[in-house]
Amino acid sequence: MKLASNVARMLVPPRNMAAAAVVLTRICRRENGKRASVSTPEQSTGGAVTGPTGRPLTDFPVPEPLDAHGPARIISLCNQKGGVGKTTTTINLSAALAAYGRRVLAIDFDPQGALSAGLGVQSHDVPTIYDLLLGHVQDPREAIQHTEVEGLDVIPANIDLSAAEVHLINEVAREQILASVLRRVSEDYDVILIDCQPSLGLLTVNALTASHGVLIPLACEYFALRGVAMLIETVEKIRDRLNPVITLDGIVATMYDSRTLHSREVLERVVDAFGTEALETVIGRTVKFPDASVAAQPITTFAPDHAAAKAYLQLARELVARGAVA
Ligand SMILES: Nc1ncnc2c1ncn2[C@@H]1O[C@H](COP(=O)(O)OP(=O)(O)OP(=O)(O)O)[C@@H](O)[C@H]1O
Ligand SMILES: [Mg+2]
Repeated sequence: MKLASNVARMLVPPRNMAAAAVVLTRICRRENGKRASVSTPEQSTGGAVTGPTGRPLTDFPVPEPLDAHGPARIISLCNQKGGVGKTTTTINLSAALAAYGRRVLAIDFDPQGALSAGLGVQSHDVPTIYDLLLGHVQDPREAIQHTEVEGLDVIPANIDLSAAEVHLINEVAREQILASVLRRVSEDYDVILIDCQPSLGLLTVNALTASHGVLIPLACEYFALRGVAMLIETVEKIRDRLNPVITLDGIVATMYDSRTLHSREVLERVVDAFGTEALETVIGRTVKFPDASVAAQPITTFAPDHAAAKAYLQLARELVARGAVA
């Protein structure tokens, strides 16, 4: 799949954010003439049930068990905008894929260490991803920690990682250091998910260079739309210069509240702009996520019957159905 879909091509050419915002606004205004039929959830239209994206709801099948594991497909969860659900999606998608028998390694690639905390793993006085990048620790297995979720492991991060960019800047092939670390454990996992920090700096470039795919969590609020053009432009550059295999695995709308017109309109714009790159699974807004973070558990174990847990299980099934995960 070529990353530059027609829509991405519409978004990519602008050389600066102001221009990108103009393009997005133009796309957003097309709605008067050509409005995608985005509906409230589970609206029924003549028998076919449509989801929040306006597409008919698909019953994604439960993934077949795997008889052999590895090598991993590596996916970065990336968006330079803060607070859009990258960490929440990494945690819960990891747990959902593990629930379907996939061996999952989640990489905390943010000095805030929220992924490590959210999965209840130790991130101080233990080897972290920083030590692997800097070569203080050679074998990634020394930094891997098991979680309480069977099949889900983590390489943690802490505030040390904030110094990594400065240290790596003069390294040979500085963009490829994470890729070489992950290559050493790829055979042991089916999927590796990287929780990126909210920036497009050298760490995120390392994540994208190491990845086969990129998944963009996008909060259903207007300002969240504005950075996506720049993000896609960055992914294009990475593909041209560093990592020809990277593809856009999808855009997952998060924090969707079907009761608000604003949420519905933003989702409509996302679907309008990105077509089928906008995943059918939409993650609703609920306080269960902050609650689960406090309990240091994924939603799939904290509140397995909650709609939010079911949404992440559906996201896992959708990604398997699309071939993004084995
Ligand atoms: N679907 C949701 N409904 C309600 N709250 C959510 C949802 N998803 C995430 N949150 C909450 O929003 C906050 C930000 O989410 P999260 O940390 O996942 O975003 P992020 O993109 O990783 O942020 P950062 O850019 O700072 O790393 C957290 O408090 C999280 O619990
Ligand atoms: Mg985060």
